[in-house]
Amino acid sequence: MKNYDNVVVFDHPLIKHKIAILRNEKTSMKEFRELVEEITTLMTYESLKEGVPTVETQVKTPLESCTQYLVKDDSIAIVPILRAGLGMVNGVHVLFPLAKVGHIGMYRNEETLEPMTYYCKLPEGIEDKLVLVVDPMLATGGSACDAVDLLKKRGCKKIKFMAIIGAPEGVSRLAEAHPDVEIYVSTLDRCLNEHGYILPGLGDAGDRLFGTK
Ligand code: PRP
Ligand code: URA
Repeated sequence: MKNYDNVVVFDHPLIKHKIAILRNEKTSMKEFRELVEEITTLMTYESLKEGVPTVETQVKTPLESCTQYLVKDDSIAIVPILRAGLGMVNGVHVLFPLAKVGHIGMYRNEETLEPMTYYCKLPEGIEDKLVLVVDPMLATGGSACDAVDLLKKRGCKKIKFMAIIGAPEGVSRLAEAHPDVEIYVSTLDRCLNEHGYILPGLGDAGDRLFGTK
């Protein structure tokens, strides 16, 4: 895959360790869910290093007063792509407990691999917030591109996208379609199979999170 200015692939030993366990077909639903949350928190810490609005405040320590910075309340919105994106919400909330949550429901047509949008409910004022779109899997990129299109139509201007595993096909498609969106993936896998699944991947993230298969 070529290099894109708006793509960051994490290369962190602690995240790699957790992804190795996440991929394992023997990992239980409970452990899978916990790992998705933990990886999300680590990714959030890094991907929100820049762009988070802060407010200046004066703090009096036992010794003197100093100027400090607090994260501006309510300046971030989390938008999971249902279903699997739901598994990442708590991982962001650990760091941003006041972030409001918008939901975009999409599923891929298993034959065409085209995403179908079946639900959308976004918080009021989302257009003025930093929007963090989360989905564990970025495969063909169809769902991610459509979700970002939808948010832009709603007026959102600052959007970051976070996926745990990306396929080169999907990362390139999203990076090219939305060069103004910063894309963060924990790992870049090899390719997609003929059914649009990421290889080596981890299987169906929604099914593994919610025990539906
Ligand atoms: C998965 C995943 C993404 C999408 C990625 O969802 O969570 O939303 O596929 O594929 P794409 O990049 O090719 O669009 P899925 O459609 O399986 O729905 P689910 O979360 O309800 O299981
Ligand atoms: N969605 C998943 O859950 N897994 C994949 O490998 C691709 C899309």
